[in-house]
Amino acid sequence: MRKTTKTTEKVKYKHWQTRIDEKGVFWAGFDRQDSTVNTINEEVLAELNVILDGIIRNVIVLSAASDAINDFAVVRGMIIYSAKEKGFIAGADIHIFESLDSCDVPKVEQLLTLGQTVFDKLATLSVPTVAMIHGFCLGGGAELALACRYRILIDRNDTCIGFPEVLLGIIPGWGGIKRLPSLIGSYRALTRLLLTGKNIYAKDALRWGLVDAIVPERIGKITASVFALKTNKKEKKSNTIIIEKIIRIPFVQSLFSWMIRKRLNQRINPVHYPAPYEILNAWEKKLSSTEIIESIKTLVFATGSTAKQLLRVFNLRERLKKRVDLKEKEVNHIHVAGAGTMGVDIAAWCVFKGLKVTLHDANPEALGRAISRAVQYFKKQSHSASTFRSMCDRLIPDFHGKGVAQADVIIEAIVEKLNVKQDFFREVEKKAKPEALLMTNTSSLSVQAIAEVLVSPARLMGVHFFNPATKMELVEVIYAAENLRTQQCIDLFSQTLAFVSKIGKLPILVKNSPGFLINRLLMTYLIACMNLLNEGETAASIDQAVLSWGMMMGPFEMADTVGLDICLTVAQNLHAQIPEKLMEMVSLGFLGKKMQKGFFVYDRQGKKKTFTLIKEVNKMDLQVKVANVMTQMVNEAEKCLSEGIVADADLLDAAMIFGAGFAPFRGGPMHYARSLIKY
Ligand code: NAI
Repeated sequence: MRKTTKTTEKVKYKHWQTRIDEKGVFWAGFDRQDSTVNTINEEVLAELNVILDGIIRNVIVLSAASDAINDFAVVRGMIIYSAKEKGFIAGADIHIFESLDSCDVPKVEQLLTLGQTVFDKLATLSVPTVAMIHGFCLGGGAELALACRYRILIDRNDTCIGFPEVLLGIIPGWGGIKRLPSLIGSYRALTRLLLTGKNIYAKDALRWGLVDAIVPERIGKITASVFALKTNKKEKKSNTIIIEKIIRIPFVQSLFSWMIRKRLNQRINPVHYPAPYEILNAWEKKLSSTEIIESIKTLVFATGSTAKQLLRVFNLRERLKKRVDLKEKEVNHIHVAGAGTMGVDIAAWCVFKGLKVTLHDANPEALGRAISRAVQYFKKQSHSASTFRSMCDRLIPDFHGKGVAQADVIIEAIVEKLNVKQDFFREVEKKAKPEALLMTNTSSLSVQAIAEVLVSPARLMGVHFFNPATKMELVEVIYAAENLRTQQCIDLFSQTLAFVSKIGKLPILVKNSPGFLINRLLMTYLIACMNLLNEGETAASIDQAVLSWGMMMGPFEMADTVGLDICLTVAQNLHAQIPEKLMEMVSLGFLGKKMQKGFFVYDRQGKKKTFTLIKEVNKMDLQVKVANVMTQMVNEAEKCLSEGIVADADLLDAAMIFGAGFAPFRGGPMHYARSLIKY
């Protein structure tokens, strides 16, 4: 090996572990101080900048802790990896945006500029650079990986790459919009990643040319160093180059952009969600680095900015996730009773999260249907044949309900009838392990009333999942003050919250009261919308108007999704004034998606047969009526707060966004109400 008289310096990095090995490979391990997850801030970038400058100047700058100088070997390649078990990099540290009103614009600008400079430096380094990626590689982290010459993925189920900026109302600012299309082609870059904010997993990433290899963990380092020592130039995929050239022919590009804009218009409104349109614009006009920074500044700091709301929503999610004080209990086996709409999704979700599940239903046909639905779900979610197989293995059909005796957690999702649920738990209490957690997914009954028949009533917890449970993040955990009398009960409660967090859902504490929080507000809203039918409006036009107001789903499609029978039961349990139309539909057997007919007609997969474009509703009176419906919901929300159903207005907003699809860009009902007063 060639030796040199190169100098070395020792620097005390806060966030990087560096060393150089005997082959001349420089290893830069990202290990953000005081954090379990790697995120990029100014300090991290500044240190990386020093490392890169060192390599450029031929001065090896090592961590003070490192003793591996290895005779001043020349740097022949560089590998960036994460020293955190959880994953590579979660993105830029968005805490900078936390207090946006007071946050100074120059600080954001400085961070963006520094990131661009450092990543450009990385991209033009003369030696091969490799990002060795395990776990999540998101946002700014994905842009860092793109700036490397090679990307090696460690084969884990959770290894994924994504650009979630668009979900926060901003656009990638560190070169992603330029580098990603040139690597995998504009069509995939825009439609599969940049405009959706979705992640892609190993198999697709390799197929599309986003990464160069997928390897098992044990040979990750050796593979990365083979790539880092490659001397030949990296070849780009020739078909990607040709297709890119064609797409950039002016009239083809216009047609392509028109098509993408049309697709976007079917999903969202540019006034409510400008970021995807900005990404498309940046791609189309090949915006420069400074123009990209200007675009981000406008998105974030403009009056009524969607990004501000979406960043607030992000922080609300973090608030629900962070539950440090919980007593975790070892949970391996879940027993779900009731394999209907909810039970199957809860079971499939728990399996997806790595748990073993026995699924029981009194009706064998329902059980059969549920298993095949779950298998479809596993097919969609698994990224390899082995993960699919192991998911299928973990879901056990259990017609006789034998799983009750072994389960650590028993979740009941059977019919919404008090006596049926009471009978069920009476039996369960006799058979279950004494330490097993008992949970009911009731949507409208009093948890205490169900628990009355138990020898230890405080053992029963309410955990209210939302439909579809595989998608909706929120779970209401219902508490009754009377149930929190002893330390044992408090521990049970804490274990329930810990379980909900463990399966990756967002738990929110709500007081035991009719409809809890979400259904009480949703019922107010759905009934108000159904009453509009008496004023001559149609379900389709109301859904359209509500969608254009910004809700994630129209009220009538939502009622069909929940099931009109369930809506009716909830309304009855809430003692609400029930719209005649709802009673009539239920009596005619029009129960919604599960019967393929409700307010709308659906195919077997539950897709609505009539297709609606999301466009502005011009009928002023309908817009006024929708605003009035929202006011009724806000008034009910105020009442919930004053009754202490939920602890504060921010939590209420979070619950309505994650549990009921309330327009995220409006920041939740309470924030929406405050904004009306402001403007
Ligand atoms: P569903 O009608 O789709 O399914 C209920 C299943 O329970 C059926 O397959 C039935 O055969 C089975 N079953 C009935 N009695 C049983 C018993 N004693 N033992 C075992 N299995 C039994 O009902 P869905 O919609 O899944 O609702 C289940 C529970 O979840 C209800 O309490 C409901 O209020 C609640 N819920 C429903 C939501 C929805 O959107 N549908 C949302 C949140 C909660």
